Amino acid sequence: MAKIELKDLRVSFGASPIITGVNLSIPDRSITALMGPSGSGKSTILRVLNRLIELYPEAKVSGEVYLDGQNIFDMNVLELRRRVQMIFQIPNPIPNLSIFENVALGLKLNRLVRGRDELFERVKSALEKAQLWDDVKNRLDMPAGKLSGGQQQRLCVARALAFEPEVLLADEPTANLDPENTAKVEALFLELKKEMTIVLVTHYPPQAARVSDYVAFLYKGQIVEWGPTKDIFTKPRHELTEKYVTGRLY
Ligand SMILES: Nc1ncnc2c1ncn2[C@@H]1O[C@H](COP(=O)(O)OP(=O)(O)O)[C@@H](O)[C@H]1O
Ligand SMILES: [Mg+2]
Repeated sequence: MAKIELKDLRVSFGASPIITGVNLSIPDRSITALMGPSGSGKSTILRVLNRLIELYPEAKVSGEVYLDGQNIFDMNVLELRRRVQMIFQIPNPIPNLSIFENVALGLKLNRLVRGRDELFERVKSALEKAQLWDDVKNRLDMPAGKLSGGQQQRLCVARALAFEPEVLLADEPTANLDPENTAKVEALFLELKKEMTIVLVTHYPPQAARVSDYVAFLYKGQIVEWGPTKDIFTKPRHELTEKYVTGRLY
């Protein structure tokens, strides 16, 4: 069974239809790239998957989304967002808060840990999984804003992982990083997919080709083509897909 299943998802903002009937299966323990030009609706779909879309009063959503077979709109939204974490294009740690507290805060606010020792272990484990522990273990009290951009993004991954999520949504997570830090984040995702489902939004086909197992190519609010990454890049079935992966469609 798919980890996430979208059935005839439609989203409009006010009178403008933005997502116009998306069906998609997202397999567990793999990376699915949501790929498409700017404005095609990639971020909107991600915002549906953790119901962040509900923060936009003008957004109307219809259709169904299932997580492990359960309709996400029937779930407790806080529990959904614990299980389905998200990271963004611009790393958004709380800059004045320490590295440790950035990861610890959500666990404390949501009373997910008992006592200081368990909190420390959870924070350490999240930083290790985000491949940041060795960089920061001697300066956990330093404000997060002093880290480099690449480190801040991995801190945001650590903050997400602290919740022990099943799904990680990543919205163009390397768009603001240099090639070296981009490579680090991509390597990290390849490691993380062994234990979770990753939905990676990208408008950059080479990134989808490098890291994803499946690609859904989105264009103007619809999925033009979906399939194993290799097929999308080597034998696309639609002309639009072929144009996009060869850099002839923006
Ligand atoms: N809150 C909003 N109100 C109105 N239109 C929006 C809103 N958010 C996004 N849109 C529009 O929806 C379309 C898809 O946006 P988005 O999902 O951000 O695309 P992508 O992430 O693929 O660049 C765009 O045309 C955008 O202008
Ligand atoms: Mg976007």
